[in-house]
Amino acid sequence: MYLSREEETILEGEKGPVLEKMMRLLTRLGDIYGADKMIPVGSVQVSGVSYKSVGDPGMAFLEDMASQGAKVSVLTFLNPAGMDLEDWDEIGFPKDFAEKQLRIMKAFKEMGIVVTSTCTPYLAGNLPRFREHIAWSESSAVSFANSVISARTNREGGPSALAAAVLGKTPNYGLHLDENRRPDVLVDVQCEIRSDADFGALGWHIGKLVKSKIPYYRGMPTWATTDDLKALGAAMAASGAVALYHAEDLTPEAHLQDVSDMEKITVDEDDMRETYETLNTGEDPDIVILGCPHASLREIRKAADQVEGKTLKKPLWICTSRVMKEAADRMGYTDIIEEAGGRIVADTCMVVSPIETMGYGITGCSSGKAAQYLPGFCKQKVVFNSVESLLKEVL
Ligand code: F3S
Repeated sequence: MYLSREEETILEGEKGPVLEKMMRLLTRLGDIYGADKMIPVGSVQVSGVSYKSVGDPGMAFLEDMASQGAKVSVLTFLNPAGMDLEDWDEIGFPKDFAEKQLRIMKAFKEMGIVVTSTCTPYLAGNLPRFREHIAWSESSAVSFANSVISARTNREGGPSALAAAVLGKTPNYGLHLDENRRPDVLVDVQCEIRSDADFGALGWHIGKLVKSKIPYYRGMPTWATTDDLKALGAAMAASGAVALYHAEDLTPEAHLQDVSDMEKITVDEDDMRETYETLNTGEDPDIVILGCPHASLREIRKAADQVEGKTLKKPLWICTSRVMKEAADRMGYTDIIEEAGGRIVADTCMVVSPIETMGYGITGCSSGKAAQYLPGFCKQKVVFNSVESLLKEVL
């Protein structure tokens, strides 16, 4: 891989051990994947934030980096943490867990990272432009950035994202290159898409089938919102490893693609029914958790409209970013949800928080991604359905 004089200087250790370590990591990655050079990135999003995911070794690594003076050079956001960073005690997150999580956040902040923990950075102040190179980690955000915004990112790991944040660069390979952004498989949607959960179910089904290929969707409803597209992409990235998809009339690079003579998958009502059957592993949820990926203001308002003036029989969490929560507070949505007995939980989500230690065994969710991860990561049985149906069940 070609390195500029300045990059070589960093690699030779002339700018200190932290930058050398970061440059070594990125050049090794670039060599493995055949990158020709390093390219500047406009922003970074770092994963490996929850204490539940990184544990003591991750916390020690981050504190070490911070104490050695690592500082980011571009706008850098974080993935969800393991708890609501402000209301953790009131919600019932364990104290020892909280102490470790707060140490992790302190280390990130010392490095200059914006401690806004969310998987929807594009809704919270980190919005890349069309064709901008970025280095993001969270799989659902990577899918959204590549597909819906048409920015360019590979799916970074926690350390490679941190290195990109510090150096402001990433190796030029994979989805940074035009030739790797073409679709491999045509998905013909022959079933009716009726609800938010249908996008998650469809994405989950296709992710399982195509794994890391790039699907091109035809027949998707043109009323699909950015919330629906974030749900679709998140599910594909969870059941498979889809980091980019195209959808006819919905995503910006779709019209540039030639889909003649392409492998084709048809999705019909039977496929959707089977997917719902597979994802539903429980009944009668202990708790309903919405907001995977983190809820937009529109999604919070919809839930607030449905529970207004009523009383929930089971706990309800709506996971979102701090930025969205503050807007919901200001609009009175938080009060409506809390008066019904629910909560808006910021900075974290049902998968990276320790819900299995908080007395919950069956979780209701509308997200294909959450339905994929809740059984393994949180020992949960899952009730998978649309937000409207889930809320009806607990009202
Ligand atoms: Fe976000 Fe957690 Fe879902 S990180 S995409 S809410 S599993």
